[in-house]
Amino acid sequence: MDIILLGPPGAGKGTQSQRLVDSRGMVQLSTGDMLRAAVRAGTPVGLKAKAIMDAGELVSDAIVSALIGEHLDQSRTQGAIFDGFPRTQNQAEALDILLDERGRNLAHVIELEVDEEALVERITGRFTCATCSAPYHDRFKPTAVQDQCDVCGGHEFKRRPDDNEQTVRTRMAEYRAKTAPILPYYEARGLVSRVDGMAKMDEVTRQIDAVLDGAA
Ligand code: AP5
Repeated sequence: MDIILLGPPGAGKGTQSQRLVDSRGMVQLSTGDMLRAAVRAGTPVGLKAKAIMDAGELVSDAIVSALIGEHLDQSRTQGAIFDGFPRTQNQAEALDILLDERGRNLAHVIELEVDEEALVERITGRFTCATCSAPYHDRFKPTAVQDQCDVCGGHEFKRRPDDNEQTVRTRMAEYRAKTAPILPYYEARGLVSRVDGMAKMDEVTRQIDAVLDGAA
């Protein structure tokens, strides 16, 4: 089953994708993660993407669609969660072609409904372990022991360079202007379900499970 998780920055797409990976063996295809990996590796795509991401703007449709195509080919047999893709009408149409070429079908588009102001706190407070990437949040999920990773015991942590308030506001404006308008494209095909992204994480997971299990 291939699905899209749609929502503005900080809506919980990455958090819920990881839970679906763990519970259902699906594969998370996050264009944000792919682009950050390219930036770290210093590839030509990464070099192009870095300044755009740091500014909170969108990387070109051609680049992200090509990345998704490559990763789909590496995970042929698993259901895919598209996390942060598509983000424009062009990307939505590109995804249809990519899926069609591979004989795959989109089963659900799940929109995480959220309050944008609350998201600024969610995003600016998040950090990860530099060693094992375990996710934390200053307020919602601090480490049990100060400055020590609960999972691997590491003492170094990192924050995304685009997780400052100014960039977050640009990312939200991009979402409103370019991503939210693609919802009618999927609504017309009866694919869209909405879950309360402001609920507690376990409740959001329960609502997503209900959609995927046909119980919503
Ligand atoms: P990307 O990496 O996709 O970032 P984003 O969409 O801005 O989303 P985030 O990762 O910030 O948030 P999320 O919804 O995954 O929330 P999370 O689960 O982490 O994109 C980054 C950049 O790359 C873009 O700005 C763009 O430049 C480029 N890019 C990427 N894809 C592109 C594309 N397709 N086209 C063009 N450019 C592209 O949760 C956030 C925090 O909240 C966490 O701390 C979490 O613990 C906490 N949290 C989550 N759920 C809850 C809850 N229910 N209650 C309380 N706290 C919660």
